[in-house]
Amino acid sequence: MSADHWGIDPKICFLNHGSFGACPLPVLEVQGALRRSMEADPVRFLDGELEGRLDEVRAELGRMVGADPDDLAFVPNATTGVNTVLRSLRFEPQHEILVTDMEYNACRNVADFAVSRARVIAAPVPFPGASPEAARSAILSRVTPRTRLALLSHITSPTGVILPLESLVPELQSRGIDVLVDGAHAPGQVPVDIARLGAAYYTGNCHKWLCSPKGAAFLHVRRDRQANVRPLVISHGANSRRTDRSRFRLEFDWTGTGDPTPYLCVLASIRFMASLMPKGWADVMKRNHELAVEARRILAAALEVPEPCPESMLGSMAALPLPPDLTRAPAPAKGSDPLQERLRVEFNIEVPIFSWPFADRKLIRVSAQFYNRREQYEQLADALRRLRQN
Ligand SMILES: Cc1ncc(COP(=O)(O)O)c(C=O)c1O
Repeated sequence: MSADHWGIDPKICFLNHGSFGACPLPVLEVQGALRRSMEADPVRFLDGELEGRLDEVRAELGRMVGADPDDLAFVPNATTGVNTVLRSLRFEPQHEILVTDMEYNACRNVADFAVSRARVIAAPVPFPGASPEAARSAILSRVTPRTRLALLSHITSPTGVILPLESLVPELQSRGIDVLVDGAHAPGQVPVDIARLGAAYYTGNCHKWLCSPKGAAFLHVRRDRQANVRPLVISHGANSRRTDRSRFRLEFDWTGTGDPTPYLCVLASIRFMASLMPKGWADVMKRNHELAVEARRILAAALEVPEPCPESMLGSMAALPLPPDLTRAPAPAKGSDPLQERLRVEFNIEVPIFSWPFADRKLIRVSAQFYNRREQYEQLADALRRLRQN
């Protein structure tokens, strides 16, 4: 069975790959072997072999996300990718950063931090009632002559919608506004073609939908922007006299001693996931998308709410607004939502509930990864029906 490749506790109905994706057991075995090899001869591994091994993985990742591998840097997570760009750039008091009200909270915080003297403008994107056109015009209507940069999710966190970046990125950049794409959720959920998209900056997670071990993500910086982007940690690369590699490469490839095995396993995870279906990734994404669409249908019926956006805006996640009979308990300042807690404790279901865009409006978001099955969403729908009756 497909779930056998994952070590997820069978007692839990795990529908939250979007928050923390589980890594398949064969990939964890590769990681274990790499760690043993590193610890057998640390100097040879880190000083002698690591650079070549990273090159090999970057080449595979470049093919997966449509990028020249020389423009890709490994970072531990997308939060670091967003920090790296926003804290490298200089913002003046008259500048604005454009975001949407669907940005991931941590990344929105980075924008607020980076522009302490400038302003962050959040475009409200309709949801329910989302459409690519509505999202596009909501974002473009907030552009002003002061907009310096746009930070846009490829797939949004609370609402799980694909933003229409294919049209937004060229439009914004033709107006002189660089785009930083927060693609935390995109690689492995939808085809990603960074070269075609042309954004100045793109960060994406490998430890979510590519199923790499935790601590694997990348930052792509377009070549004409690389001189201004420095890693958060300055190390040997800053004054290296090597001329065989770009300064970007030299700086990002070594940021101090750490465990490089999450990065090194990206190759194994891309190939393992592709091996699960006859047509590889195209099939995996299609299967998960269809399951997410079906899950949404099942849940919309149980919750008696309309589907909030077209299927074309979904990858492998789907969010639905909760009806008022399930949103009475206020969300706590710390910890998970009381409904999320009840689903976990009383029904063994792991699924996130978000307060969005305000504290008293709540969304439920399901994920569909290869180990998930239709019956799990029916189990969730039954639980929600029972909670609505109480
Ligand atoms: C849109 C978005 N950006 C960034 C992140 C942060 O990812 P990470 O914790 O891997 O940095 C998330 C996490 O779910 C996300 O949904």
